[in-house]
Amino acid sequence: MAFNQAQFKDIIAEFTIDTERLHQIAATFRQDLQLGLRDVTQSSMRMLKSYVGLPSGNEKGEYLALDFGGTNIRVFKFRLDGGGKYAIIKRVGRPLIVPGEYDYICKDATAEQMFDFIAELIDEAIDGDHTTKYYLGHTFSFPSTQTNLYDARLIIWTKEFATQGVEGQVANDLLVEALKRRGAGNVEPVAVLNDTVAVLLSAAYKTPDTFIGSIYATGHNTCYLEPTIHDPKGVGSGGMILNLECGNFSKIVPNRFDREYDEGSEKPGEQRFEKMVSGRYMGELLGMAIAELLGEKGKQYGLTSVDMSMMILDDSPNLQRATDILMAKVGRELDYVDVAKVRELAATIVIRSARLVAASFVALVWQRAGSGKIQQQHVAVDGSVYEKMPLAKENITRAMSELLGEDAAKVDTILDNGGSGLGAAIAAAMAQK
Ligand code: GLC
Repeated sequence: MAFNQAQFKDIIAEFTIDTERLHQIAATFRQDLQLGLRDVTQSSMRMLKSYVGLPSGNEKGEYLALDFGGTNIRVFKFRLDGGGKYAIIKRVGRPLIVPGEYDYICKDATAEQMFDFIAELIDEAIDGDHTTKYYLGHTFSFPSTQTNLYDARLIIWTKEFATQGVEGQVANDLLVEALKRRGAGNVEPVAVLNDTVAVLLSAAYKTPDTFIGSIYATGHNTCYLEPTIHDPKGVGSGGMILNLECGNFSKIVPNRFDREYDEGSEKPGEQRFEKMVSGRYMGELLGMAIAELLGEKGKQYGLTSVDMSMMILDDSPNLQRATDILMAKVGRELDYVDVAKVRELAATIVIRSARLVAASFVALVWQRAGSGKIQQQHVAVDGSVYEKMPLAKENITRAMSELLGEDAAKVDTILDNGGSGLGAAIAAAMAQK
């Protein structure tokens, strides 16, 4: 069965955002931010305080960093040498879920099981040394309310995590208890931060003129340095970094696929923006569109963003790779013309995602500039979609030029690979001051 051309064109149109609409989206994002700065309950973004500003770049010493924000947990031992320099002394990592073996992120898993697993990994990073004192920075990348640099209370799980007994709890307290159970009480968590904040700290440690940090991966979120907020309990300079939790931005009109996916998701109504742009969801949106084209609406194929990326990258004359992926996941041998259409659809979904992310960056650049001139700056981004998804980075750049015009020359995006680990070590060093 060949795809219906009119239906295909209609789906492409659903996922296409022209310059004018993109401008409106950036303006709406900025308005929502301004509403939140006056009264956070008015914004669809959570705009969470981090109690940290920018590092000096001269932070020094050895620190542990825990990067907990996706299905892969990583623990590092860093040596910060100041002058923007550092070295990774040790690095260990393990997934929170191995299908068929164990799963610490499902509804049946408990907080205790999850944090015991993390404590075990930390123990591995310190080679079971239970005497030396270690200070640890914890990148905990879920929406959390902070009252200081140490305590972050999880508001709600995102990214389809569902482990019981963590929502409403202070993540570092759960970690401390698990470390004690393991006899590793010599590891002391001293700072907790969102991964976006970690990326900004990490980039700013190495590169001046960076005020915006973002993750574009399984999840999506951005933070920025807000110069008007200061708190005696905070550390660092230039104001306070606000973790926007803009994955929850919802003042944007979703298309029918966005709506339908949201309704069947783990947390309907939450993270509407993230469900339109991040790696966790793009494959799902593509799958829903294919199901509609094949007349089997509602069927799930388990397409991932990695599948999408491989299909987009397949530029062979017969699109064999893409055909094979679709055969394996969709269970049908699609003809060349339809496979080409699926590729176009995948590209369109990625481009929409990149354009939306770019609009949010531009909104923040505008906000920081206020009525003054836009300053020369970098936007630091980390994450697999930004780094590896074909078409993502170039479309961010293109969309930023469309929105910023001549000022686009002053703003670029830079990859801050591994920033969520390094940033945690920097935060731990800042907490020691
Ligand atoms: C989700 C989380 C957010 C995190 C982002 C990227 O949006 O809610 O805290 O920064 O994913 O990992």
